[in-house]
Amino acid sequence: MSQFDLNAEDHLDRWVEQTDAIRVEGPIGWSDADGGYWVAVGYDCVVEITKNWEVFSCSNDQARDPRARGIGIPPFAFPMLLSESDPPRQTKLRLLEIPFFQPSKMKAQMPIVQGHIDACLAALDQGREVDLFREYAMPVVALTTMALVGIDISQWQAFTLKSFHGEGGPDFDLNSDTNRVHQMLLDLISERRAAPESDIVSALVQGTVLGEGLDDGEVLSMLHALVLGGFDTTAGLITSGLIWLDEHREDHDRLRADDALLANAVHEFIRFYPSVVGGARNIMRDIEIGGRKLRDGDRIYLSWAGANRDPAVFEAPHELRIDRPNADRNLTFGHGPHRCLGLELARITGRLALRGILDRYPEYRIRREGLVRHRAHGQVAGWSCVPANLA
Ligand code: HEM
Repeated sequence: MSQFDLNAEDHLDRWVEQTDAIRVEGPIGWSDADGGYWVAVGYDCVVEITKNWEVFSCSNDQARDPRARGIGIPPFAFPMLLSESDPPRQTKLRLLEIPFFQPSKMKAQMPIVQGHIDACLAALDQGREVDLFREYAMPVVALTTMALVGIDISQWQAFTLKSFHGEGGPDFDLNSDTNRVHQMLLDLISERRAAPESDIVSALVQGTVLGEGLDDGEVLSMLHALVLGGFDTTAGLITSGLIWLDEHREDHDRLRADDALLANAVHEFIRFYPSVVGGARNIMRDIEIGGRKLRDGDRIYLSWAGANRDPAVFEAPHELRIDRPNADRNLTFGHGPHRCLGLELARITGRLALRGILDRYPEYRIRREGLVRHRAHGQVAGWSCVPANLA
């Protein structure tokens, strides 16, 4: 059995067996990869760690503390301001965006999301093989996120990374393409500084955190998490759901007829096919947890994916059951102070996008030999090519 290594080529194919192998010994194991780190796979341990942010820090502020290496293993090249700060600063940063994600705002988003879905469904060509990632999931998610953030949706192709919409050829350079999107966001930031509107970008350029405003680099980092962080994750949910339903026609037929069951199935797809498989924390003092003695300065990787397969919480965890009663307890959106801000938007978009295909193209069939898993963006699991015939 190969050891747990979240950066190994085959990690996204092997995390189930590897997290199960750790679980045999207990809720927390050890990996020698990348200089060594703990791996938490037990549900209760993962929850406890996310809540104890004073000991298990997300900070990447190396100038203040060399132990602060953020949430990436190895540390991310591009710092994530919100995800890689601890309370109280993180709480204040989050408050700038929370008003845009409130339940009333999410309800108001539903007809907008539905409009994008209808437009994308209408554009799909029934007469030829289509790619349900590039021609459906990706544009639906991109248009939805951009509308929420206040970006002109007519520019959606330019605002998404080329690899997201299938243009990442052999010479493709993710870093330079990310810089290109960042430059577009920086231009938007200067526009909103000059003439604020009522959108998230304006709230970020006008807001203060612990008495200070955010500079352009900080606003950019906040927008990067929203604009690029919600894209392939939510698209992964939609494509994984469609692949499952193509293979399991009985579930497909049940969901066509039952919207409440579809809402539950979305939780279960998120549990079973986590599009974000984990995130790290930095240990700020010696602590004993899960039968292990963790040391000041160590790092620990929280496997949301492994916790989702904990048999103490989910009966028969390796079975996908669309009517699982506690599917919504999955940890794919994290837990504690950093729990995903966009989770409700992701669930709504996922549900409406699946419903769209089930209603309009119920006979769709996926050509499984043509499926391509996308690996380009770190720990995000999903598909970059989902070829299908619609009728
Ligand atoms: C299926 C889709 C998605 C998944 C699986 C996902 C997953 C996650 C995870 C695991 C975290 C970190 C939680 C932690 O460390 O405890 C996170 C944070 C975050 N997500 Fe998502 N996400 C999704 C969609 C979205 C969308 C659509 C948006 C916004 C448009 C979004 C915005 C954010 C933000 C702003 C944070 C940082 C929160 C903080 O640190 O306080 N996410 N997400």
